[in-house]
Amino acid sequence: MKGLFISIEGPDGSGKSTQIKLLRDYLQNKGYDIALTREPGGTQISEKIRNIILDKENKSMHSRTEALLYAASRAQHVEEIIKPALKENKIVICDRFVDSSLIYQGIGRGLGIENIYDLNLFAMQDVIPDLTLLFDIDMCRAKKRKENRGNLDRLESEKGTFHEDVFNGYKKLKDLYPKRIKTVRANGSIKQVQEEIINIINDFLEN
Ligand code: TYD
Repeated sequence: MKGLFISIEGPDGSGKSTQIKLLRDYLQNKGYDIALTREPGGTQISEKIRNIILDKENKSMHSRTEALLYAASRAQHVEEIIKPALKENKIVICDRFVDSSLIYQGIGRGLGIENIYDLNLFAMQDVIPDLTLLFDIDMCRAKKRKENRGNLDRLESEKGTFHEDVFNGYKKLKDLYPKRIKTVRANGSIKQVQEEIINIINDFLEN
């Protein structure tokens, strides 16, 4: 048996963090060995790259530099954390993975989904999520959640149509990977969303 790789995706403010912890607890209680991680980050080197990417001082960062840094952080993360955990038959739950790059850099920054996918193939090698939970949320609701957080990082404080483009990009993502991606209706209460996720996960584990 090989482990299982689950990635969690969605726009900023879609409520992923709370649900990811609940999912980890649920699966741990069922006896699974879980590795919970996130991108950009997850390793010491990747966390350093994360700080460079999200630093608000780095206003002049070019989109291509940004895309390469996300991919660099991912390459280290895949080698150091994800591959070993899968080898040990763990369930890896990753807060964001390659789809974030496809949408934020491919669409949001206008670099093109195909270019970003090719770039990331080098970083990920053959490590692709078995299942991706895509949080589908109302744009106004996500915006409010984000604003309540205060202290926004470089990506979160991006102006113009960037976040709208990201939102619309995520809507199209499921069409690209209909088998791998399952949509989670994320507008409901914490409990409702959690139940929906558990149903999807149990369905997946049974099949
Ligand atoms: P984070 O604080 O982890 O955001 P969230 O809590 O919403 O997941 O910051 C990560 C930011 O980086 C987020 O705005 C999405 C963005 N991002 C990309 O643009 N490309 C990527 O490949 C990844 C992994 C994240």
